[in-house]
Amino acid sequence: MPLRVGFIGAGNMAYGIAKGILSGDVLPVNVKVSAPSPRNFGRFEELGISVTHFNSDVVSGSDLVFVAVKPHLVPEILREISQLVTQKHIIVSVAAGVTLATLELVYLFAEALAEGAVKMGMPSSLAHSIAAQTIVGAGKLLRDTGKHPAQLRSDVCTPGGTTIYGLHALEQGGLRAATMSAVESATERARELGQKSAGAGNSN
Ligand SMILES: NC(=O)c1ccc[n+]([C@@H]2O[C@H](COP(=O)([O-])OP(=O)(O)OC[C@H]3O[C@@H](n4cnc5c(N)ncnc54)[C@H](OP(=O)(O)O)[C@@H]3O)[C@@H](O)[C@H]2O)c1
Repeated sequence: MPLRVGFIGAGNMAYGIAKGILSGDVLPVNVKVSAPSPRNFGRFEELGISVTHFNSDVVSGSDLVFVAVKPHLVPEILREISQLVTQKHIIVSVAAGVTLATLELVYLFAEALAEGAVKMGMPSSLAHSIAAQTIVGAGKLLRDTGKHPAQLRSDVCTPGGTTIYGLHALEQGGLRAATMSAVESATERARELGQKSAGAGNSN
C-alpha cells in the first residue's frame, strides 16, 4: 500500500514538507491538505495535491498526518481528530515548542548515529539508511507495544553486551540532560514568540 500523507494546515511548513515528500516516493494523488480558508490552496493544487476544508477528510484519508498549524491551535485540533485516529495513524505535530524540538532532535540523532557508523568504516548511504530504519523500528515498537521506553531499552540490554557500553557513552556525553534542555529551551522560545505576536495584535 502506498503511503498516504495528510496535512492539517496549509501554511509554509506544510508546503515545505509536502514539496520534500513529493521529491521522494510519495505521489501527489496520495497527499491531502486541509485549512479553513482557501487562501493557501493554490500552490498545493499546482503540485497536484487535493485540498479540503475538513480536517476529518485528511485524517480518514491518510496514514501519516502532519498537524501544521500555529501552536495554540494544536490541542484543539488533536481533540477534534481524536475520535478518527486509529492505531495505524502516525500523527506528527510540527508546531514550535515541545513537539518541534522532538522532531528535530530525532533527525539530529539519526544523523549522529549514521556519522558514528561512517566513522567506524560503514559507507555513508548504508549508514543513513540503517539509522533511518532503526528509528522507524524503534518508533513502531514504542507506539505498538505501549511499553515505557526505559522498559524497551532494558529488554535489549544484555549484561556486559554492546548496548550497555553504548548507553554508558551516551550518559557520559549528557544526552539525556541535553535533550531535556533542548525541549525546555524550544518551548520557552515558542512562548516568547507567541507573546510577541499577541502583543503585536497578530494571532499568527
Ligand atoms: N514557518 C516556519 O519556518 C516554521 C518553522 C518551524 C516550525 N514552524 C511551526 O509550524 C507551524 C505552522 O507554521 P506555518 O509557518 O506553516 O504557519 P502558517 O503559514 O500561518 O499556516 C498555518 C495554517 O494553519 C491553518 N489553520 C488555521 N486554523 C486551522 C484549523 N482549525 N484547521 C486546519 N488548519 C488550520 C491556516 O489556514 P488558512 O490557510 O486558512 O489561514 C494555515 O494554512 C507553527 O506551529 C510554527 O510554529 C514553522
